[in-house]
Amino acid sequence: MQDCAQDRETVPEPAPGQGLLDWYDANARVLAWRVGPAERRAGTVPDPYHVWLSEIMLQQTTVAAVEPYFARFTRRWPTLEALAEAPDDAVMAQWAGLGYYARARNLVKCARIVRDDFGGRFPSSAQTLMKLPGIGPYTAAAIAAIAFDRPETVVDGNVERVMARFFAVRAPLDKAKARLRSLARSLTPESRPGDHAQALMDLGATICTPRAPRCSACPWKGRCKGRALGIAGELPRRRRKQRKPVRHGIAYLARRDDGAWLLERRPENGLLGGMLGWPGTAWGAAPTEAPPLEADWQDPGIELRHTFTHFHLRLQLRIAGVAPGTLAPVGEFVDESAFARTDLPSVMRKAYDLARARLCGD
Ligand code: ADE
Repeated sequence: MQDCAQDRETVPEPAPGQGLLDWYDANARVLAWRVGPAERRAGTVPDPYHVWLSEIMLQQTTVAAVEPYFARFTRRWPTLEALAEAPDDAVMAQWAGLGYYARARNLVKCARIVRDDFGGRFPSSAQTLMKLPGIGPYTAAAIAAIAFDRPETVVDGNVERVMARFFAVRAPLDKAKARLRSLARSLTPESRPGDHAQALMDLGATICTPRAPRCSACPWKGRCKGRALGIAGELPRRRRKQRKPVRHGIAYLARRDDGAWLLERRPENGLLGGMLGWPGTAWGAAPTEAPPLEADWQDPGIELRHTFTHFHLRLQLRIAGVAPGTLAPVGEFVDESAFARTDLPSVMRKAYDLARARLCGD
């Protein structure tokens, strides 16, 4: 009698990673810092400098926001060595508007350490990468995987969401993080781990989106437990967010009639650390006036609004035109041709635009 057992055996399902990689091969986003799957197949390897720079920029920032910054940085500093040579202030100015300014300071520090201590080559192990300034566990794993194809598991908020849905993890996100990481690890392949990491990022950004996931287009649609249960869009569960507190402050914008503005560099440590800004009060409950110099300060009745990670800022402005000989009691008067509004962080830029409109009629 013929043995038909073979015929009855179910065809083994492809590993989930494989379906994802096939999808990535056809759908990878084109990103300036990325070596796409076709180029990879043709033998192109990623430039670790590009991978590192993009990952630092992408910390807490969107791809769309990073793209023009990445283009400007790599045009101006095409190599790690070039960036390591750059003056701190030039890097800070190029970074202005991208936020979380400690990242920019660490960027230069890291470039110099890689140049001086690693012969200009990024280490390829996540453990060693993590010892460098500005590189935490997530970024170390991302660089090791993407630049060096190390089988590291790269878990950010997008990946947590994909895992919570794929495995129908219903526990609130803050409790489920370790489990989601271990589930993500269970899917990390030995082959093409860098592409796998990027595929998961793309899946989270384009299909498995926070709201209204497009499950019908998902390469994992047949195996996603969250979808099967009809709860994919509700996952991951979150606890109610704490409301952000509101802080208040006053910024003083003085323009000398010879066209110089009173600017100060903010302390290295702290919010907007190392960036240029306008003198002002601390940001807290109810600010008391603390003008940096005596002048006919005008209150334009404008309160700027800006949101930081942990609080909302309401910033009142005081604006004054002062005489050409006026000396700077804090910071320095800088001629308006010697700085650009884009050198300022966003909140200071908003204040500048308003003050210029008042004083210069822009
Ligand atoms: N988010 C973080 N790293 C990323 C990358 N390399 N590509 C796209 N999005 C990302």
